[in-house]
Amino acid sequence: MAKLSDRYPFPAPEGSNWQVPQDFNVDFNWDYDDGRATMIGLYRKGVEMQWNAETRIDWSQELDEDNPEQLPEEMLPIAGMAQYESMSRAEKAKVRRHFQGWQISQFMQGEQGALICTAKIVTQVPDLDSKFYASTQVIDEARHVESYKRLLEKFGVAYPMTPPLQELIDQVLRDSRWDMTYLGMQVVIEGLALAAFQQIRDHAQNPLAAAVNAYVMQDESRHVAFGRLALRDYYPQLTQKERDEREEFLLEACYLMRDRFDAVEVWKTLGLDPAKCAEHMYDSGFMEMFRSSLFTRIVPIVKDIGLWGPTITGGYEKMGILGYAQTDVQALQDSDETIAKDFDARRAYVESVANRAKTLETA
Ligand SMILES: [Fe+2]
Ligand SMILES: [Fe+2]
Repeated sequence: MAKLSDRYPFPAPEGSNWQVPQDFNVDFNWDYDDGRATMIGLYRKGVEMQWNAETRIDWSQELDEDNPEQLPEEMLPIAGMAQYESMSRAEKAKVRRHFQGWQISQFMQGEQGALICTAKIVTQVPDLDSKFYASTQVIDEARHVESYKRLLEKFGVAYPMTPPLQELIDQVLRDSRWDMTYLGMQVVIEGLALAAFQQIRDHAQNPLAAAVNAYVMQDESRHVAFGRLALRDYYPQLTQKERDEREEFLLEACYLMRDRFDAVEVWKTLGLDPAKCAEHMYDSGFMEMFRSSLFTRIVPIVKDIGLWGPTITGGYEKMGILGYAQTDVQALQDSDETIAKDFDARRAYVESVANRAKTLETA
């Protein structure tokens, strides 16, 4: 089979390896006794809930020819645009394949970002209990890269990491303050990921695409909990000035996510006018749903970790997203876990019916 990167419509700017310079101390901790009960509890859960992408997911399932993930048409942000609506059936199918493939590519590339960032947390965070937990997340993220890679192989198209995502990951990785990796990855990028995965988990009629996203989300809800636990303890110890710097970073990141995830690479590859697409896309139902889901995931966490000074509250008020602070994060996390279990139950049911049919045949 051809390599995934051979399917990129244009090569990644740095070739096959991207190197980010680092400037921080690796931190050993000789104090083995002081684990926080909540953090050790989360570590235990991380260990117990490991799964194998090879066996939990039925990879023999295929994607749809015309609409790989079988998503409703309104999930394509340029649906309704005159140029798109006048296309032939085959041309529309190509647009869907490219846009959905671009999204899954970003998931896969972002998951590698998470893998690297979590490994950085293991080496850099001072607390041993956090190192323990983060090490379970490292393997979670490897499994996520693997799962999206296998799903993406079925698309026949793939894209390099989109520049706004790369910018965010670069900034987080270069920062020598350990908490900035958490803030950028565990709060901002995980929040972005959860919002994007949820759209597919909840709307894809294709069972393979829905299951991959449901299982990944089950892990991600632990990852967000980790960021909350670690930062909630740490931020009250900082000065107001130090907290202000973090709030500024968060605000900037929220603008970036709101305004820069535009799939411009897809529109260019397909020969569409990116400005026209962007104009249509901005007010589309798809983007509205995405933004709402994004801020539902991020804003309450920001409040919970204590970065709730005038910089953030004033900035969020201007963006019109302050109200999302009321979201019940625990309920969201619980439902992410329940939904993943429903997918397991569904597969077990289908298999038991298939097995029963087999025994009837041979009887
Ligand atoms: Fe992940
Ligand atoms: Fe994650």
